[in-house]
Amino acid sequence: NAIVGGVRSAISYVPTSWLPGATPDPLIDKRVSLGTQQSRVDGSDKVRGAARFAAEVKMDRLLYAACVHSTIARGRITELDVAAAETAAGVALVMTHRNAPKMAMPPPIGLTNLKAAGSNIVPVMQDPDVRWNGQVVAVVLAETQEQADHAASLIKVRYEAAPARTRFEEAKASAHTPESLLIERNRLKRGDSEAAFEAASHKVDATYRTPWHNHNPIEPNATTIAWEGDRLIVHDATQMLYGTAGSLAKVFGIKETQVFVSSPFVGGGFGGKAFWDHQILGAAAAKLAGRPVRIALSRASMHRLIGGRSQTEQRVALAADGGGKLKALLHHGFSVKPSSSVCDEAFTLTSRSLYASESYDIVQHTVDLDVLANTFMRAPGEAPGTFAVESAMDELAHALQIDPIELRRRNIADKDPLTGAPHSQSDLMLAYDLGAKRFGWERRAAKPRARRDGEWLIGMGCASGSFPYMRLPGTSVRITIDGNGQAMVSSAAHEMGMGTVTVQRQIAADRLGLPLESVTVRIGDTSLPFGAMAGGSSQTASLGAATTAASVKLAGDLLRLAGNDTPLAGLRPSEIEFADSGLRKIGDPSRHESFVSILGRAARSEVSATGESSAPLELLKFSMHSRSAVFCELRVSDVTGEIRIDRLVGAFDCGRILNPKTAASQFRGGMIMGIGMALTEETVFDERKGRIMSASIADYHVPVHLDVPDIEVLWTDIPDPRTPMGARGIGEIGITGVAAAIANAAFNATGKRVRDLPLTPDKFL
Ligand code: MOS
Repeated sequence: NAIVGGVRSAISYVPTSWLPGATPDPLIDKRVSLGTQQSRVDGSDKVRGAARFAAEVKMDRLLYAACVHSTIARGRITELDVAAAETAAGVALVMTHRNAPKMAMPPPIGLTNLKAAGSNIVPVMQDPDVRWNGQVVAVVLAETQEQADHAASLIKVRYEAAPARTRFEEAKASAHTPESLLIERNRLKRGDSEAAFEAASHKVDATYRTPWHNHNPIEPNATTIAWEGDRLIVHDATQMLYGTAGSLAKVFGIKETQVFVSSPFVGGGFGGKAFWDHQILGAAAAKLAGRPVRIALSRASMHRLIGGRSQTEQRVALAADGGGKLKALLHHGFSVKPSSSVCDEAFTLTSRSLYASESYDIVQHTVDLDVLANTFMRAPGEAPGTFAVESAMDELAHALQIDPIELRRRNIADKDPLTGAPHSQSDLMLAYDLGAKRFGWERRAAKPRARRDGEWLIGMGCASGSFPYMRLPGTSVRITIDGNGQAMVSSAAHEMGMGTVTVQRQIAADRLGLPLESVTVRIGDTSLPFGAMAGGSSQTASLGAATTAASVKLAGDLLRLAGNDTPLAGLRPSEIEFADSGLRKIGDPSRHESFVSILGRAARSEVSATGESSAPLELLKFSMHSRSAVFCELRVSDVTGEIRIDRLVGAFDCGRILNPKTAASQFRGGMIMGIGMALTEETVFDERKGRIMSASIADYHVPVHLDVPDIEVLWTDIPDPRTPMGARGIGEIGITGVAAAIANAAFNATGKRVRDLPLTPDKFL
């Protein structure tokens, strides 16, 4: 598996329980609450406005922050006139590099250090140097947000500009091939793919381009911060609670235990709610002012400060024999990052895992530019990667005059194409079959431009989606069962809208043999056991494995508490299981004792055990990926070139679906993000100045309701025998393949192949 590299060095954990990967999780056959449709536990809180977000936390004497951003890409500040701002109404403080406290560099995020969350590893406000266009050069604190915003506009900055690398084409000449956080080895070769490509009878060779994307969740990044003596209290919008705490501790030279981070609700994350300059600046300003600070980023500040997805340029060359079997697969390309960013856009993940080709040559190059650091953004790598590879597959199908689904059937890898490892579970073609049926694929005209309705050309397309399975070691869960037989399950997990609490409650209920109503799940702050992150679509598996580990310990503890005067007397831990709100002998319901009875007899008010997600050894033995088949029907105006999407169908092969209701929302949400990627989302970048010109949601267009058609989602629901609960990740896969399915449908409608996202009207005229 592509991600194993990062994980391998993390394996120092001793497994304490049922090991994912060894035998199937006993829960994969259970259908008590898992697999049933459950509404969000926190749904009514969200709807009533009772859910508290980071920028809503009340604090006494709170100051509001506004940021001033640099207007050059590289150089130094020569003059900073803050006098007018300092004397403006309501202003308490202006912080610049001249008065900011001394702080260390933020520690970089890594799969082996989940107590660090930095994407952009630069000193923050420690010197007059400017490193990208948009860097914060001053923070204004005032009694109200409006006063802070106004005062920020009064600050005058002069710069001495230095030569900056802001032009992609120029910088390509010095592109390099670094190891990436997400891919183990950069260049992969088998056979002589160039020669195979030349010799093959059918081929396509094309270059695909995807633009920069910025993060635009509903809730902008925000944090409300107070120092209580040498303790730092942080109400943050984060998908890495402990990563944020650990990072702030490093930056301010204090212990992790001195930082408390709370984030019970996050209004969408997608990779952007990690650790950026604003948390550092907020904490520094609060220290300087001696008052609590709220730094709630404006949309403009988000576009300048919170990195997104790098642009890519990808060459995909595919060659096949007359029967459509791949003889050569070449995937080469470029993505961008400043040298300070630790995140590469691993767009070759797809070509490394999806298809079996006789020969291949896969490599990606990184172009260094002096720009805002890029970071993870929903399905990093796979989102732009599937656009290129799945567009190329469609081009090859057209060249071969083979049905695009049939072409995939002939080439889908039945084991890992690179390592030969078996799939843990994989049935993408079943997803294609289910999806094709639901969609009505047989109505598609193979010939482009064959269907028309007035000015509208109608087309159908499909594409594969893919995202690797991941489970993070160290994530911990504490289970407490009280004298009334009620369970409390706690972990510093994250709720970004996906239904974490709801699904974890289902998992714990089935694991512990309890009804749903008897389980409460607590998440969302660093007073709770370590949670790795909500990222890499890994949180459910990580928490599920930790819950298992905790439950195994708990069973042993309960058995000891039960003593000898019990139907369980004389049984070994391996002979018991959780059932009917208690423990029983496996296969013998007559030998059962309830939690209430065990605790009552032992005169205990509660019993508690903590377990952690072991190293993801399953990834060493198996090729593990969630997959999807995406179908699109759309119309393109022959007059204006505008695309209207009529229908999307997503058929997912992601192991067992734990909660059909929340899963469907995850899939749909991802597919909607895919619509944005396909049609409108593009960070407009001025290459002369390195400045983002689209720093608002008036200029950066995310899909609105009118852009979103009826979306149907379905799934194979085949348990993965190597994962906790039989489930694989579902958070990120939704976006993958969607842009290709839409571009392929647009080709089918118009006969015009557009290889540059977004698919704006001008490109179809
Ligand atoms: Mo995801 S890009 O790991 O939030």
